[in-house]
Amino acid sequence: MAETPRADLLVLFGGAGDLARRMLLPSLYFLDADGFLPERFKVVAAARSEMTREAFLDLLRADLTARPEGLDETVWTRFSARLDYVAADATTAEGLAPLKPHMAAAKLPIFYLALSPSLYARVCVALAAAGFASDDSRIVLEKPIGRDLESSRGINVAVGAVFDEARIFRIDHYLGKETVQNLMALRFANTLFEPLWNNLTIDHVQITVAETEGVGERWPYYDEYGALRDMLQNHMLQLLCLVAMEPPADMEPDSVRNEKVKVLRSLRPFTRAEAHKDSVRGQYGEGVVGGRAVSGYEKERGQASDTETFVALRADIDNWRWAGVPFFLRTGKRLPERRTQIAIQFKPVPHSIFGGSASEDLVANRLVIDLQPDEDIELLLMNKAPGISRGGMRLQSLPLSLSLLRSYEGPGARRRIAYERLLLDVIVGNSTLFVRRDEVEAAWRWVDGVADAWREAGMAPKPYAAGSWGPAGAFALIERSERAWYD
Ligand code: NDP
Ligand code: BG6
Repeated sequence: MAETPRADLLVLFGGAGDLARRMLLPSLYFLDADGFLPERFKVVAAARSEMTREAFLDLLRADLTARPEGLDETVWTRFSARLDYVAADATTAEGLAPLKPHMAAAKLPIFYLALSPSLYARVCVALAAAGFASDDSRIVLEKPIGRDLESSRGINVAVGAVFDEARIFRIDHYLGKETVQNLMALRFANTLFEPLWNNLTIDHVQITVAETEGVGERWPYYDEYGALRDMLQNHMLQLLCLVAMEPPADMEPDSVRNEKVKVLRSLRPFTRAEAHKDSVRGQYGEGVVGGRAVSGYEKERGQASDTETFVALRADIDNWRWAGVPFFLRTGKRLPERRTQIAIQFKPVPHSIFGGSASEDLVANRLVIDLQPDEDIELLLMNKAPGISRGGMRLQSLPLSLSLLRSYEGPGARRRIAYERLLLDVIVGNSTLFVRRDEVEAAWRWVDGVADAWREAGMAPKPYAAGSWGPAGAFALIERSERAWYD
């Protein structure tokens, strides 16, 4: 991959917001701890609120100290020297003026918009008007890019008028997760799976992103988006693309992204006729999660709402490799456990040579890729149970495990925040793990079809008790094809 110059400044708009404090600034701290930040690299957190540099450093120091890893004083001394806080309004050239001294000293700045997407267009216009959007600058956009295809196009056009595509980094933090990248290694660095990776051998695929947390204080954002737009349009479709894409020629950004976009374009459009049969919307009511009584979504929201906090659906990919292989996707808040998992279910053997009870023990192979809470890849294989039994041979299914942390024990084994990888990639200018404009728009086109089908079919979210696996319809959805969720 061609070397691009390394950035020397990161301007973090929304720099004292939730995402910045929980994910982005800790990620930069850990990158510094591991010696990945360029020597002269500076970070300027910017938001409208007035705050001194010292007060900002106190906040961040407290955040880092409260983390399980604790604070390393040597790293903190080095890292804090890189940091500043500037009160600035990113939406006007005048509002950006306080950043001028930092910009004058920077050759290759990155602008990270940890802001509401509704501000992206105005911020780009303001960056250009302030003279900050030089040819070497890069811009990072958080998801969601819009709320539908039309609004996403509006944002992409406005950002594209100031920054060319090679300088736009659209983040989907799932692509920074270690196991997600390992999925590419598993598929394309082994000869074992590729010949089997198709509709001749694979029965179906399940992708589950289950969260125990509720929406809580985030409802002003969430109520407008719901699970379909918050999770499925981006994170889950990206996972589906990595499972389903053809082998790219290399790891160049466009090679990988060309293949992902082909998958998105091959997704069978959803219609009103399929809405009830192939999808379920749910909204959590009160219940018990992890032994704790919790409120329902509408109570958190303070009024009735038509927003789904759970979605399950069947997606079909109309191409040669995947014809006839359903992808079952489900995601929800306030489910019984936190789990992000991809399960590739292989077909059963065509004929069992094992008679009697051994035949009943025979289960089809499954490849299970766990992203959260633990990172693991397991291949379930049939095995002979040890010993002799009167009834002949006994079979059992045993997992062959590639536990990522266990395989790489040692100082580097700390579980990284997904943003670490992605921030480092922006600094060095590698956009392979970022989402290209046509990808975002292809994903929205399909998701808009789902939302339209729901509206036309009059599908309101069905209630489910917090702590359950969603509405009963989610089970019926998969059982209709004589399959079941792996709970
Ligand atoms: P927050 O509301 O916590 O933070 C946003 C910050 O932006 C505020 O602190 C605000 O500070 C600042 N801000 C608002 N307007 C301006 C402005 N005109 N100029 C400069 N700063 C401004 O939001 P989050 O951190 O939760 O989310 C930020 C983005 O990241 C959103 O796009 C969200 O969808 C995305 N995201 C968030 C995730 C999360 O876990 N939080 C996960 C994935 C994506 P002030 O009022 O002082 O200006
Ligand atoms: C964010 C969504 O993009 O991803 C949140 O906005 C969700 O609603 C979060 O909770 C899940 O991320 P992770 O990495 O915790 O699975």
